[in-house]
Amino acid sequence: MKFILSILRIIVFLLFVPSLIVSIAGDTSSTSQFESLSYGESITSPGGIFELGFFHLGNPNKSYLAIRYQRYPDHTFVWVANGNNPINDSSSMLRLNPSSGTLVLTYNNLTWSTSSPKVANIYNPVAELLDTGNLVIREKNDPKTGGGDYLWQSFDHPSNTMLAGMKIGWDLKRNLNRSLVAWKSDDDPTPGELSWGIVLHPYPEMIMMKGTQKYHRLGPWNGLRFSGMPEMRPNPVFNYTFVTNKDEIYYMWTLQTNLITKVVLNQTTEDRPRYVWSDIDKTWNFYSTMPGEYCDHYAFCGANSFCSSTASPMCECLKGYTPKSPEKWNSMVWTEGCVLKHQLSCMNDGFAPVDDLKVPDTKNTSVDETIDLDECKKKCLNDCSCMAYTNSNISGSGSGCVMWFGELIDIKLYQASGSGQRLYIRLHPSELDSIRHKKSKTILIISVAATIGVILAIYFVYRKKIYEESKAEINYESYMNDLDLPLLDLPIISGATGNFSEGNKIGEGGFGSVYWGKLSSGLEIAVKRLSKNSDQGMSEFVNEVKLIARVQHRNLVKLLGCCIDRQEKMLVYEYLNNGSLDYFIFDRTKGKLLDWPKRFHIIFGIARGLMYLHQDSRLRIIHRDLKASNILLDDTLNPKISDFGMAKTFGGEDIEGNTSKIVGTYGYMAPEYAIDGQFSVKSDVFSFGVLMLETICGKKNRSYRGKQVINLIDNVWTLWKKDLTLQAVDPNMEDSIVACEVLRCIHVGLLCVQQYAEDRPTMTSVVLMLGSEMELDEPMRPGFCTKKEPIEASSSSCSTINEMSTTLLTAR
Ligand SMILES: *[C@@H]1O[C@H](CO)[C@@H](O)[C@H](O)[C@H]1NC(C)=O
Ligand SMILES: *[C@@H]1O[C@H](CO)[C@@H](O)[C@H](O)[C@H]1NC(C)=O
Ligand SMILES: *[C@@H]1O[C@H](CO)[C@@H](O)[C@H](O)[C@H]1NC(C)=O
Ligand SMILES: *[C@@H]1O[C@H](CO)[C@@H](O)[C@H](O)[C@H]1NC(C)=O
Ligand SMILES: *[C@@H]1O[C@H](CO)[C@@H](O)[C@H](O)[C@H]1NC(C)=O
Ligand SMILES: *[C@@H]1O[C@H](CO)[C@@H](O)[C@H](O)[C@H]1NC(C)=O
Ligand SMILES: *[C@@H]1O[C@H](CO)[C@@H](O)[C@H](O)[C@H]1NC(C)=O
Ligand SMILES: *[C@@H]1O[C@H](CO)[C@@H](O)[C@H](O)[C@H]1NC(C)=O
Repeated sequence: MKFILSILRIIVFLLFVPSLIVSIAGDTSSTSQFESLSYGESITSPGGIFELGFFHLGNPNKSYLAIRYQRYPDHTFVWVANGNNPINDSSSMLRLNPSSGTLVLTYNNLTWSTSSPKVANIYNPVAELLDTGNLVIREKNDPKTGGGDYLWQSFDHPSNTMLAGMKIGWDLKRNLNRSLVAWKSDDDPTPGELSWGIVLHPYPEMIMMKGTQKYHRLGPWNGLRFSGMPEMRPNPVFNYTFVTNKDEIYYMWTLQTNLITKVVLNQTTEDRPRYVWSDIDKTWNFYSTMPGEYCDHYAFCGANSFCSSTASPMCECLKGYTPKSPEKWNSMVWTEGCVLKHQLSCMNDGFAPVDDLKVPDTKNTSVDETIDLDECKKKCLNDCSCMAYTNSNISGSGSGCVMWFGELIDIKLYQASGSGQRLYIRLHPSELDSIRHKKSKTILIISVAATIGVILAIYFVYRKKIYEESKAEINYESYMNDLDLPLLDLPIISGATGNFSEGNKIGEGGFGSVYWGKLSSGLEIAVKRLSKNSDQGMSEFVNEVKLIARVQHRNLVKLLGCCIDRQEKMLVYEYLNNGSLDYFIFDRTKGKLLDWPKRFHIIFGIARGLMYLHQDSRLRIIHRDLKASNILLDDTLNPKISDFGMAKTFGGEDIEGNTSKIVGTYGYMAPEYAIDGQFSVKSDVFSFGVLMLETICGKKNRSYRGKQVINLIDNVWTLWKKDLTLQAVDPNMEDSIVACEVLRCIHVGLLCVQQYAEDRPTMTSVVLMLGSEMELDEPMRPGFCTKKEPIEASSSSCSTINEMSTTLLTAR
């Protein structure tokens, strides 16, 4: 219907705008060029992606000269010329003035005009709307530039949207400050109070302002990325550029795929989300945003402190500093920040390194790119107001020097090591002593503990189990101190769960039971109580706490706290009242509750959660037990990945591991993992592929019909090869499926379950493939295992389809 309407609109348009037909007939390549545009007319970019014209945003009495997407049905606006003064005059007109090379809009007895180019002679100017969304004026036959230099471009005067190839920042020669400015609201493009651009501090940085107040700081460019954006790493999709020289300082990104994406400054939500167009959903999918958490809000913890979103409390004074007002600080009013404990002694001071930080506000800094870190230290030491220093460029082994004077403001501590930068903080000599002192004390404690440990080991050699537990408790203690995770008392939890009553039991897992509970505050919780005699008890417990306390994402289940009381170990999670995914998809009647759009939403959410685990800065997390029963659904059916008991982390570059203890769930395991114990992000991708196919087909990957084993992947692959793929789809979704979308998802699913890990896409690619129209590779033969029983490392046997009956491989 929409399609027919748009065809009709084009026909109507062509009938009533004969001049355009002439121009199309006359010069097909220049339909996006124009000399004038009257009210009611519009011009489309050559590829039909953008459209320039007179549009209103709901109120027909208020029109704007604007650029919007033409190709995508929601027609979102990307640029507005006259946000302040809407047009209410149908005789208004946009004209190109050939002698000055400017576009002039006359309306309501007002004029809006592009700035006059500083060029002596203008040669035959043309105005043109490009497929990038840029409206440009250029010289058609300019002998010097061949028409490539713009006399003016809308990209130099951004509205609320940043597109690929747009520069945000400064053209210093023209004193041009390009920044995004939010609209007051969706239907009012009057400039709002939020703006986002580069400020020319000695060490320039990207700042979001709310009126005249700093609101969020992405920080300076450190040679690799913005200091406040650790996730900004080289990737196959975005190419980030930051240029700083005497003529310009700007930030830009371009795309290396045909992804459609935009960044919008939003006054209502006070953030700057990035969206990716999904042809499947026919909508803009949310991708990421800034500020994303409390610690991204400017100076959340006041001066001379740092903010860590997973710590409790979130704010802490820097080493050598103490709360200015301890009373307020302790009642979580942090804005006054911290002050030095001792007046600095100047020349006798020293420096202490602090790692994994977003560096402080660079307003009061000085940069010297010619000196190294040693000289930087000397220079900072010699200036008694220099409070911190570090490399100005952390690329390679680091170079250059940046020094901070006065208060250190808006420091964030990243949860994952390696995400942030090192900062050297000036300290009074006595503070340095106390560090050394502490260090030697720690060493002493460690050696005493070690000795005791050895004695204990000998003593308990015949009572292994008890020893295990005591060791675990030591681990636990040292570990909990790191985390500051809320510790809940056993009586509180047993009160909340009705003394762990059978009626409140909501699940049973390999490591114990899960109970529903309600705290006196009314908060509903899910308590995972590890069984007392589980061998895997403490190490998995610590592992799970450690991992999940550090990760935070809307598609991961949130850990609220934990409880440990003698042999009792418990994890307290947010309670999600829709249970787990398997409960729906493998059930003939409940399956009807999840139509195709809901299932797609779930698949996409899981993909995003897993992408976060795999990509989050340098702490890579491999879940190792992704399956339908580990996906929980909240009240709006948002999926959340749970159960990190088997997860493993890796440092930045390692992406593979090997284990002799194969854990996981049969049917979801990648062949290389089940066979050789080799796990990697790609073995998670395999499990994700299985999960995705199960969700679409409403069947378990492994099920039995009588004695026969039914393998879902095998079925789907066979149907795919015969071009009968849709027969695999869950009949419960019959009424809601959109064939091309379902086929695309199955296609991606098959790419994920390919036999060889290196052929499988990464989760980043999966998210992009699901959310865009990009072309997909042809999947190769899937890999799968053929054993029925829960797996034991020594007896597992796996094979690929063609080798199913001939090869039986044994695990190492
Ligand atoms: C638009 O203007 C007309 C005439 O001035 C007026 O009657 C109408 O109410 C206005 N519409 C809106 C939505 O303001
Ligand atoms: C159009 O706008 C101008 C100024 O913005 C105003 O003076 C005039 O009354 C408006 N006309 C209508 C019909 O709303
Ligand atoms: C339009 O502007 C001219 C000059 O600025 C002024 O003399 C005239 O009164 C204006 N007309 C209206 C209807 O506002
Ligand atoms: C540059 O533009 C931004 C956004 O409009 C603004 O906040 C900032 O103050 C401007 N900087 C200067 C020096 O004008
Ligand atoms: C940072 O250092 C790297 C390697 O040392 C160099 O290639 C790059 O140009 C530097 N970046 C800046 C912004 O100076
Ligand atoms: C990234 O973009 C910059 C600027 O457009 C370009 O010079 C560079 O070659 C691009 N890099 C890649 C890997 O495409
Ligand atoms: C701002 O965000 C809200 C909530 O997500 C959304 O409804 C609105 O359309 C957004 N506005 C813009 C200009 O993107
Ligand atoms: C920078 O810090 C120094 C030392 O505290 C102070 O004297 C100076 O006024 C500060 N400058 C600015 C611009 O804040």
